[in-house]
Amino acid sequence: MAEKGDTSSNSQGVGQFLTNFVSEVVQSPVNVILVGVIAFLVYKIVKSKTKSEEPVPEIKELPKLRRDFTVQELKAYDGRGPDGRVLIAVNGSVYDVTKGSRFYGPGGPYAEFGGRDASRGLATFSVGPGKDEYDDLSDLNTTEMNSVKEWEEQFKEKYDYVGKLLKPGETPTSYSDEEDEGSQQETESKSKND
Ligand code: HEM
Repeated sequence: MAEKGDTSSNSQGVGQFLTNFVSEVVQSPVNVILVGVIAFLVYKIVKSKTKSEEPVPEIKELPKLRRDFTVQELKAYDGRGPDGRVLIAVNGSVYDVTKGSRFYGPGGPYAEFGGRDASRGLATFSVGPGKDEYDDLSDLNTTEMNSVKEWEEQFKEKYDYVGKLLKPGETPTSYSDEEDEGSQQETESKSKND
């Protein structure tokens, strides 16, 4: 008899847990907002994965970029340009994230990062447009800065490095020698040996 009761009390227990969980969540507006944010991001990610029927903007192999960018210049590379290129700055370095367009391109869950310095957003775990001008990140605490560095490692592994994000008044590096036509491979081995 005890065993029989066990099964029903188990399912009762689960039901009870769910009821408690839902009422717990609903009680706090912060929880409701968090659940909303999670649901929205999950929806965006699932949508971006299942949209294969739509004419996905073809991700062509774009020529490698090698140059520094100001915050203003970076804005043109949010994936809405003619070549669809997407660049993102993390911790002072600019990465070409075009192959991750489904994340950072128009309509992607992290589209707000496209053409921008994503450092602050990544540090604070918030997908927002961030600052419009150069952000020196000096107000971030150690944990947040460590988080930015961890994210940067991931970007470094997955995407091509393009150049520096320039501070106001900073002169762009001249990479012109490296970008001489026909000497791409030579350049790559050269910069590896540097
Ligand atoms: C709680 C809600 C969130 C969920 C469920 C979620 C889920 C995911 C998933 C599943 C991936 C991997 C996608 C794949 O590789 O196919 C991913 C990647 C990523 N997420 Fe989130 N995420 C959330 C919140 C955030 C927030 C708040 C940020 C901003 C700081 C963020 C930034 C990123 C970035 C930068 C990537 C890497 C994309 C790449 O590989 O380039 N996520 N997320």
